[in-house]
Amino acid sequence: MKEHVCSNYCELSKKVAERIIEQLRTKPKSLITIAGGETPLGVLKYLSEHLVSEDVDYSQVKFISLDEWVGLDSNTYGSCRQTLNDGLFNNINLTSDQIIFFDGNAENLTLECEKVDKIICDHEAIDLIVLGIGMNGHLGFNEPNIVTTNASIVKLSDVTKNVMNKYFNESMELTHGITLGYNQILQSKKIILMASGSNKRSIMDEMKRVKVSYSLPASLLKYNDALEIYIDEEANIENGKDQS
Ligand code: GLP
Repeated sequence: MKEHVCSNYCELSKKVAERIIEQLRTKPKSLITIAGGETPLGVLKYLSEHLVSEDVDYSQVKFISLDEWVGLDSNTYGSCRQTLNDGLFNNINLTSDQIIFFDGNAENLTLECEKVDKIICDHEAIDLIVLGIGMNGHLGFNEPNIVTTNASIVKLSDVTKNVMNKYFNESMELTHGITLGYNQILQSKKIILMASGSNKRSIMDEMKRVKVSYSLPASLLKYNDALEIYIDEEANIENGKDQS
C-alpha cells in the first residue's frame, strides 16, 4: 500500500490533481472517476485552473460517475453531479458525451446503472478513480455490510444520513444512493484514496488495521496493487500519535 502524506490540504489536492494530469498526458483517452463530496474539491479547483494553462489534452477523456443521491440530479446544490459541474465540468470545455453520470432523479434507476455499467465494460476498466472515504469507511455509496458487484442502488446507512446535511442548503430526507459497485472500483487500473482532516483520522487508522471485510468497505482496497493513498497530516494517524 503506497501512501503519500502531504503537509496540508493544498498540497494533497495539488498532488492528486497532478496525478490526474499525468494520466491524461500518458493516455488522453482515459476513463476517469472523481468522487463527489468535499475531499476532492481542491483537486477540482486545481484542474480547473491548470488543464488549460498547462495545455493538457482533455478532449478525449471521459468522466464517469462514482455515485449520486437517489432523488437528486444536477439541479440540486450539493448533489454529486452539481458538485462536479461547479468544481470542474463547467469550468473547462467538455462535450456532453465526455460526462457519464448517474441521474439520481431518473424514473428508471436500473437503466442508470446499466448505462454506467456499459461504458465501463466497453472501456474494459476505469483508468483512474479518485475516492474519498466516508465516516463509516464507505466507498461511493457502498455502505458497510452491503455487497455489490456493478452499479447498484443501495440503502444509506445511519452514519451517512447523519453527515449528509453538510452538503446541502436545506434539510434532506434521502434514503438511497446509486453507486459504482466493488468490482468496478477494485478493478480500476489506478486507485487513489484521499483523506483530509482530523475527522478522517480514526477511520483511516481503522482501515489500515482491520482485516479486509465488507464491514469496512475501504478495507477492500488494502492489498490492491493499484491503490495509492494520499492523506494530509491531520488525517494521518502518525500525526495523531505525535501530538498525544
Ligand atoms: C460521500 C460520498 C462519497 C465520498 C465520501 C466522503 O457520502 N458518497 O463519494 O467520497 O462520502 O465524503 P467527503 O469527502 O465529503 O468527506
